[in-house]
Amino acid sequence: MYTSKITGLGHYVPENIVTNDDLSKLMDTNDAWIRERTGIEERRHIKKGDGNSTSVMGVKAATIALERAKLAPSDIDFIVFATLSPDMYFPGGGVQVQDMMGMGTIPALDVRNQCSGFVYAISVADQFVKTGMYKNVLVIGSENHSGGLDFTTRGRSVSVIFGDGAGAAVVSRNESGTGGILSTHLHSEGKHKDQLSLQGPSTEHWVPEIIAENPQEDIPYYPYMNGQFVFKHAIVRFSEVIKEGLAANDMGVEDIDIFIPHQANLRISQFIQKKFQLPDDKVYNNMQKYGNTTAASIPIALSEAWEKGKIKEGDLVVLAAFGSGFTWGSVMIRW
Ligand code: UT7
Repeated sequence: MYTSKITGLGHYVPENIVTNDDLSKLMDTNDAWIRERTGIEERRHIKKGDGNSTSVMGVKAATIALERAKLAPSDIDFIVFATLSPDMYFPGGGVQVQDMMGMGTIPALDVRNQCSGFVYAISVADQFVKTGMYKNVLVIGSENHSGGLDFTTRGRSVSVIFGDGAGAAVVSRNESGTGGILSTHLHSEGKHKDQLSLQGPSTEHWVPEIIAENPQEDIPYYPYMNGQFVFKHAIVRFSEVIKEGLAANDMGVEDIDIFIPHQANLRISQFIQKKFQLPDDKVYNNMQKYGNTTAASIPIALSEAWEKGKIKEGDLVVLAAFGSGFTWGSVMIRW
C-alpha cells in the first residue's frame, strides 16, 4: 500500500469583480445585509466573451498546479473533476479538461457532490494512488455559478452568495514516505436533498416540460436553498467530521496547524473557529473576496494559503466541507 501527497496546487478566478453594490443595482439587496450575514464583500463572475467556462477555468487552475508539481500533462494518469455547474448537462467537465490539456485517453471522472465535491474528489484520488493503480491524479473543483443564478429579487438569498472560479491539486504517489494525505472522511444524508437543490433541467424537469411551461414562472431551473436549515446542519456536521478526522489519527484540536473550511459563509467558519478555539492564524478564509465557489472553494483557498506561505512542511492541514445532498467530509493532511 502506498501513501499519497499533494504535489502541486493552482487556482484561477475570472478578472471581473462584482461588488455587493453592483448586485444592489440588479435586485433589492444591500452591502450591509450581505456583509453582516455572510462576510462576503465581492465575488468574481465570468463576463460574456471572456473565454471562460467551468472546464476552461479548470484547465487554467490545473495548468498552474501541474507546473508547481513539475509534471507534464502526459504524466497525469487520471482526472477527477468536481462541479455542480458543468458546461454541458453531459458529458462532464473531466473529459473536456482531458481534451483541452492533450491528455491522450486517460480516464476522467466527474464528481457531483456540490460544496463537498473537492473533499470527495481528493478522497477518490487518494484511494487510487494508495492502491498503486495511478501515480498522478489531477483533481479539479470548478464552478460557473453566475451563468445560472436568478439575479432578480426573487433569487437574492442565493445569488448574492455564489461566485465563479476554479482550483486544482495534483495528488501523487508519496515518494518521500513521510506525511501526505492521512485520512479522508465522507458522509451524506439524502433525506435533505431538497433543502439545497436545483431541480431542472433533469429527467424529472425535462425538455417537453421546459417548452410546455412558461419559463418565467418556472422556478425549478434556479437553485433553491433553505438557508437557516442548511446553516444549522452545516455547523453540526462540520464539527462532527473534524472531530472524526482528528480521532482517526489520534490527534487533538491542538495539533491543527491550519484549518481550511469550505467557504460557505464567514459566519459558519467563525462559529467553527470559536467552537474549536482556533486562533485567527490557524484558519484560512477568502470568501470575502470570492464568495462561495462551491467545489472550487477549498482548492482556491488551499492554493492561495500555500502561495502566501501559510502552509509549511510538516503542518497538519485540515479541510472540511458541507453542502447540498446533504454531503459533508474532511481531509487530514500532513504537509
Ligand atoms: O455552501 C453550501 C452550504 N450553504 C450554506 O452553508 C449557507 C447557509 N446559510 C446561510 O449562509 C444563511 O442562511 C444565508 C446567508 C443564506 C441567509 O442568512 P439568514 O440570516 O439565514 O437570512 P434569512 O434567509 O433568514 O433572511 C432574513 C431576511 C428575510 O427577510 P424577512 O422575511 O425577515 O423580511 C429575507 O427575505 O433577509 C431577507 N433577505 C435579504 N435581504 C437583503 C434574504 N436575502 C437577502 C439579500 N439582501 N440578499
